[in-house]
Amino acid sequence: MGLLGNYEFNNLEDLLVNQLEDLYDAENRLIEALPKMAEASHSSQLRSAFLTHLQETRGHKQRLEMMFNRLGRKPQRETCPAMKGLIKEGSEMIDAKGDATVRDAALIAAAQRVEHYEMAAYGTVRTLAQQLGHADMARTLQQTLDEEGAADKKLTSLAEGGINANAARPAMAGASA
Ligand SMILES: [Fe+2]
Ligand SMILES: [Fe+2]
Repeated sequence: MGLLGNYEFNNLEDLLVNQLEDLYDAENRLIEALPKMAEASHSSQLRSAFLTHLQETRGHKQRLEMMFNRLGRKPQRETCPAMKGLIKEGSEMIDAKGDATVRDAALIAAAQRVEHYEMAAYGTVRTLAQQLGHADMARTLQQTLDEEGAADKKLTSLAEGGINANAARPAMAGASA
């Protein structure tokens, strides 16, 4: 815990807790933001990608709560100004006017910034947990990191036009002509 700009870190566990509290705030904010991203999506595939990741994000929050328990602490939120800013960028895309397909691309642009931020954070915290000998925690953090990475890849494939590619896919090879 600590006020912004007023931290005291005497060991790596203090830092681990701080990083978990920051992520706990970030995930809570995302749980509020993702339904709005889904609602603003024109493509039904993009909408369902956001809703799927909303479910995963609820799981990320629960995993963090388990980790606080494991460390003998109450789950606490440390305001994450970076995530507030990323979500603000997302809401500007939600409010954007213009072509529906381009606006979907704008939602993806904002969402991928969020996923990369989470990937950076979870990678760091996983390494801290490893260094502190919390092997179970490190594995759980890696699981979340993998889900953030998969969400990011999914968004890339939607941005690359996976929707159109699927619609245009020719008959499977092997069918006789
Ligand atoms: Fe997450
Ligand atoms: Fe995420």
